[in-house]
Amino acid sequence: MKKRVFSGIQPSGNLHIGNYLGALKNWVASQQDADNVFCIVDLHAITVPQDPEILKQKIREVAGIYFAAGIDPKQSIVFVQSDVSAHAELAWILNCFTPMGWMGRMTQFKDKSGNQKESVSVGLFDYPALMAADILLYDTDEVPVGEDQKQHVEITRDIAQRFNSIYGETFKLPKPVIPKSGARIMDLIEPTKKMSKSDDREGRTLPLLASTDQLRSAIMGATTDSQKEIRFDASRPGIYNLLEIYEGVTRTSREEIESKFSGKGYGDFKKDLAEEVIAFLAPFQKRYQELIDNPSHLEDLLKEGKVRAEELANKKLAEVKSKVGLG
Ligand code: AMP
Ligand code: TRP
Repeated sequence: MKKRVFSGIQPSGNLHIGNYLGALKNWVASQQDADNVFCIVDLHAITVPQDPEILKQKIREVAGIYFAAGIDPKQSIVFVQSDVSAHAELAWILNCFTPMGWMGRMTQFKDKSGNQKESVSVGLFDYPALMAADILLYDTDEVPVGEDQKQHVEITRDIAQRFNSIYGETFKLPKPVIPKSGARIMDLIEPTKKMSKSDDREGRTLPLLASTDQLRSAIMGATTDSQKEIRFDASRPGIYNLLEIYEGVTRTSREEIESKFSGKGYGDFKKDLAEEVIAFLAPFQKRYQELIDNPSHLEDLLKEGKVRAEELANKKLAEVKSKVGLG
């Protein structure tokens, strides 16, 4: 039996190079030797306010990005979370087995709610229970995500273990798979902050669908430091981040990159990086455009994904309901 891989991205904001290097790239790489399920997690997106028209459009955009990045609908199941109602149902059940104290420790909630803890939605607080449902419905072995999602996969394991200890072996315990490089791509202007797809300020991120001018100007304007040497030195976050992006899009080793740019200036390196990013994204953007220009084909792919996901999810949900004594 092949191992099962499950992951998802929210259809909000503008997906960027960090989403690619931290998540998508590894989903594509695992396709051959795993049974993959990739979800567009729209129920997670509504934990914060969304415009209905834009949300609908973003769901298709993210689907197009998955396929354009190399997810093959023949090898992997790709579907929209709200199309499979078992996710919301299992999330409710898992809620009832998750102590408030565990949820209260989630750093993403603390970051996202900031100083508005009283006015953000209960859904935002409860977000990890829905994510646990996503993962546990499919007997997932591995969850390829960026660094920021590690804690959510860990709470998923805790919830699964607690349920299993009450009702007997039901859920597989998943483990997070975090890439060695690219797991935490930083903001180009403030390289001590994570690159975020909800930040639409000019020059901070490298959106996967950006124009060549936008990509070039963001890279040329990226914050570095007053030193000269182009080396992978984690204590210099600006240049380190740009080097990680270079490594990710060119698939060149760190030694080769350092020797290639030895004695060169930051300006030359940035110019080269911009050309590499543009060359890397060009075929991706072309495939994306073809997919988006054919909406009925995209709908068919998502419908097929829904049917395949539903079959697996409903089976697990039925087992859980029966163990709990529901229905
Ligand atoms: P999000 O953008 O929060 O919806 O995240 C979607 C996926 O991309 C998750 O697996 C994240 O861990 C990953 N991700 C998000 N931002 C970054 C980043 N700046 N660097 C690396 N991975 C990221
Ligand atoms: N919380 C994840 C993020 O913001 C998205 C997500 C939802 C997810 N369900 C998931 C990721 C299940 C992996 C597995 O990035």
